[in-house]
Amino acid sequence: MNNEIARRRTFAIIAHPDAGKTSLTEKLLLFGGQIQVAGAVKSNKIKKTATSDWMDIEKQRGISVTTSVMEFDYHDYKVNILDTPGHQDFAEDTYRTLTAVDSVIIVVDGAKGVESQTRKLMEVCRMRNTPVIIFVNKMDREAKDPFDLLDELESELVINVRPLTWPIESGPRFKGVYNIYERKLNLFQPSKQVVTEKVEVDIHTSDLDERIGAFLAEKLRNDLELIDGVYPDFDVDAYLKGELAPVFFGSALNNFGVQELLDCFVEIAPCPRPVQAEERVVQPDEPKFTGFVFKITANIDPNHRSCVAFCKICSGKFTRNTPYLHVRHNKTMRFSSPTQFMAQRKTTVDEAWAGDIIGLPDNGTFKIGDTLTEGETLHFKGLPSFSPEMFKYIENADPMKAKQLAKGIDQLMDEGVAQLFINQFNGRKLIGTVGQLQFEVIQYRLENEYNAKCRWEPASLYKACWIESDDPEELEAFKKRKYQYMAKDREGRDVFLADSGYVLQMAQTDFKHIKFHFTSEF
Ligand code: G4P
Repeated sequence: MNNEIARRRTFAIIAHPDAGKTSLTEKLLLFGGQIQVAGAVKSNKIKKTATSDWMDIEKQRGISVTTSVMEFDYHDYKVNILDTPGHQDFAEDTYRTLTAVDSVIIVVDGAKGVESQTRKLMEVCRMRNTPVIIFVNKMDREAKDPFDLLDELESELVINVRPLTWPIESGPRFKGVYNIYERKLNLFQPSKQVVTEKVEVDIHTSDLDERIGAFLAEKLRNDLELIDGVYPDFDVDAYLKGELAPVFFGSALNNFGVQELLDCFVEIAPCPRPVQAEERVVQPDEPKFTGFVFKITANIDPNHRSCVAFCKICSGKFTRNTPYLHVRHNKTMRFSSPTQFMAQRKTTVDEAWAGDIIGLPDNGTFKIGDTLTEGETLHFKGLPSFSPEMFKYIENADPMKAKQLAKGIDQLMDEGVAQLFINQFNGRKLIGTVGQLQFEVIQYRLENEYNAKCRWEPASLYKACWIESDDPEELEAFKKRKYQYMAKDREGRDVFLADSGYVLQMAQTDFKHIKFHFTSEF
């Protein structure tokens, strides 16, 4: 395979808010030489406040443009980190980003274990068999027993695990980690900047006792014996298939255990993988360029409604100023100022390879999922929408601006800000989101970018699910029975709006041949 492609590692760090994603990202950038001091990367999360602060949202959007992709060279590898929003209400954005990565690192807080958001994000990884590495963070604080944590990871994330480093105590007694892979001991020194030195110790000699004390040395020996007995040897193939997750322990804030993680990551993580298009499987080393848009971010400046469309290159080489086919529009386009991202800087790129992410200036020509090729008609699939959790009817609050409102809603949905359903019974527009904040963002952006005013009206719904059936008669009967609760999504597919869990359950029992899907990818 082309060397350029083989050395690329494109991944995302995912975590429940506050587990330490920002801290870990920052330390990785430190190793990549992209930043010189800790503290340079600002968290892009919106701190929880009673009332959302517009500046915070604006900041989040602004920052997320520049830190959406961070790339650096490390040894012989080119590492691309795709950032995901820190706020839960933007989870949909994270799901989509996961379609553009070849692997992920999951950060788990050692004291809290697996949290709700981690579980959800892992489900998305499982859908696509994305290889995952787990980093158990905050070992400098009192953490759960590591064996209990491993059990929890296995059962909650539904994946086999294999520790590759092992902690020696936690909290104030935290001594460091033993690197099972390299058979070296890393002694902990709390420091944000200094990288701890590794010492090679034979764990069976008194050297270990001298370094961590006889009691802990004995405990470590027993632990390691138990690990070898319980967990099979680390199998890279099982990891690449998404069946086995190697586990590392450390403290991102103290830059401890991070280098081990990075070293192992670049070695075992997959380079760009083949991508399934509707028509065929696209191999990364095919000579011709193909790519798809997985994320669109609006500009922070309200006077210039220009966006950046993020395109993941699936195969070949992208070259600046070359005509490429925008498959949905069947139109040839050239890009004179595509950008790549280096920590907080943006630079114009002349060429980029499969695995890379490029930013394309966009003023409404792109929609999430759009494909670019050198002429072939291809549609990359696998950008799932998830059943939203919150619903509101959107109404026009300024009769003079109906057109602007319609256009605004349309474009915001193209960007993937939320999902739109049209109720077939009354024709009303229903917006579905995963969090309250999205409604506020939509309203704010409609006003600021489209000069349109909207009003929200409550819709008490439990879930929207896509339905299909091999039995057209039953499907018709269902639609008739539930006519007040039937809607269409933007692609014209049938969606059932269940107003309670009970109603949904009854529908599933009564209509045996109808499949109720909770993601749009089925
Ligand atoms: P996130 O992006 O996943 O939301 O997490 P982030 O890195 O922002 O970390 C959340 C909080 O946890 C931060 O504290 C951060 O300093 C702390 N933290 C991260 N890693 C470690 C670790 O290894 N050990 C300890 N003890 N703390 C860690 P904060 O008070 O919210 O922010 P700040 O004031 O420290 O910036």
